[in-house]
Amino acid sequence: MRNRRITILDTTLRDGEQSPGIALSPDEKVAIAHALAELGVDVIQAGFPVSSPGDFEGVRAVAAAVSRPTVASLSRTRREDLDAAVEALAVARGRTRVHIVLATSPIHMEFKLGLEPEEVVDRARESVSYVHGRVDEVEFACEDATRSDPTFVADVCRAAIGAGATTINLPDTVGYSLPDEYAAFVSEVRRLCPELGEVTLAVHCHDDLGLAVANTLAGVRAGATQAECTVNGLGERAGVAALEEVAMALRVRYDAYGYETGIDPGLIGHASRLVSELTGCIVQPNKAIVGANAFAHEAGIHQDGMLKHTGTYQIMDPEELGLTMTLPLGKHSGRHAFRRACSEAGLQPTEEELAVAFARFKTLADAGADVSLIDAFQEVAA
Ligand code: KIV
Ligand code: ZN
Repeated sequence: MRNRRITILDTTLRDGEQSPGIALSPDEKVAIAHALAELGVDVIQAGFPVSSPGDFEGVRAVAAAVSRPTVASLSRTRREDLDAAVEALAVARGRTRVHIVLATSPIHMEFKLGLEPEEVVDRARESVSYVHGRVDEVEFACEDATRSDPTFVADVCRAAIGAGATTINLPDTVGYSLPDEYAAFVSEVRRLCPELGEVTLAVHCHDDLGLAVANTLAGVRAGATQAECTVNGLGERAGVAALEEVAMALRVRYDAYGYETGIDPGLIGHASRLVSELTGCIVQPNKAIVGANAFAHEAGIHQDGMLKHTGTYQIMDPEELGLTMTLPLGKHSGRHAFRRACSEAGLQPTEEELAVAFARFKTLADAGADVSLIDAFQEVAA
């Protein structure tokens, strides 16, 4: 039996780059694209070519540089956008995809697009058929799908599939959905549009309520087979589901989901550091998987447990992710970890010296100081 597999579309170079303050040069996009290719993503969404000449060049450069992941470019339904999206991919070494986006929610159709629902269905059909055959694959996204009427979304999906779309994306564009609602929404659209069984169904969730990863996994449970993510969770506003979190949730909880991805966990740390460095977006210390504290254990009880068996407080092996476990010394640390830190630093105190140094360390750490072993052993040396 073939393993069930989730396609990972990485949109760090498009949705991620839309985070305020980020502007990647074509060379930087290529560097990240190589890291994503090695990491094992299936599709790299490289940018939105019509948005600027620099982004057009960025997509072109990525398409020319990588041969294995499919390279996708984003487009609205306007011909100018669609032509730019196709042209930017003309030099591609591998498979190409145009990712068309058109809103389906009442608020977007009325206030942003000024279109009637029937016009949206027509535009979906026309835009897909306009690029169909000019690239290898066409993805169609019903923007703001989760605030749309599922029956209408099903009509739009049917029109897009009929015109040649090979992937349909049902994004939670504004991060409004709850996991059980999102799963119900995806299931309902699948029920109303059986044609979705012939194409790849994608989920793309924003993190406005901190639910992007939970919603992505709920969408997968409801039958989606493509998850759209970004490294470090970058993206518009609060960001998009973090690739490393989705990939590791599927891996660590394979028992619950039964899906594999092509992601090599050993390259997650490298990809995260590279994206952080090139975008200038620092990863928050307590960020899951790649935050500086994700595998740091400061409390004495935890440090004691970790020194006896790393499974006591860790569900993943950081070494396997290209990361390291640390036992930082702080006010909550215990004697056991303090002794280990001494021996790692090449110190061999007697039991009496250790007791004095540990007592001084606790006093200083309690006062909020960042205490080094040198500080702790000052009285011993005196
Ligand atoms: O959030 C969104 O709806 C998007 C689309 C382009 C898929 O980013
Ligand atoms: Zn998005």
